[in-house]
Amino acid sequence: MGHPNLRVPAEPYPVEHIGSDKFNTLIEDMRETLHAYGGIGLAAPQIDVGYRLCVIEIENTETRYGTIERVPFEVFVNPTITQLDDPEEQGYWEGCLSVPGMMGYVERPQHIRVDYTTREGQPASREAHGFLATVFQHEFDHLDGVLYVDRLKDPSLFAFEDEYVQFHAGG
Ligand code: NI
Repeated sequence: MGHPNLRVPAEPYPVEHIGSDKFNTLIEDMRETLHAYGGIGLAAPQIDVGYRLCVIEIENTETRYGTIERVPFEVFVNPTITQLDDPEEQGYWEGCLSVPGMMGYVERPQHIRVDYTTREGQPASREAHGFLATVFQHEFDHLDGVLYVDRLKDPSLFAFEDEYVQFHAGG
C-alpha cells in the first residue's frame, strides 16, 4: 500500500497473448507469489504488472475466515462482475497481500456473476455467493486501483492481525 501503481486502473490483457511463454511465466509468477504469502487471491497489479489478470486458489478450506468453499487454482483474464438479484450486503474481515499485517471489515454484495476469459482463452462465467463473492470483488477491485481499505465504513473495524485474532475473530 502506498505504491502508486496499485492505484492505477489496469489495462485489458490482450487475449491473443494467452498461452504465450510470457503469459505462462506471468501466471507461474503469480501462483508462486500467492503460495509464498499464503494468500487465496492475487491480482497482477500487486506484482506491478498493469494487466487485468487475477489468480484465485482456495485449497485449504479451513481458513482464518472460517470454513470456505474449495476453489482449485484458476486464472481470470479480463474479469467483470455483475451483481445478481440479492441486493443484500454482508461483511467479512478481509486481508490483502498489499496491506500486510492488517485486517478490515468490509460489506459487499453477496451474490454475483463473474464473466472472464480462462487461461485457455475460452469465455467463461460462474456465480459466487457469500465469502467467495467477497474474494472475487476484492481481487477484481485491484484491477481498478481500489483497495479494501477504501471500502471500510467503520475505521474501528480496521485492525492489526493480532488484535483481529484477539478481539474480532469469530465475532
Ligand atoms: Ni488484495
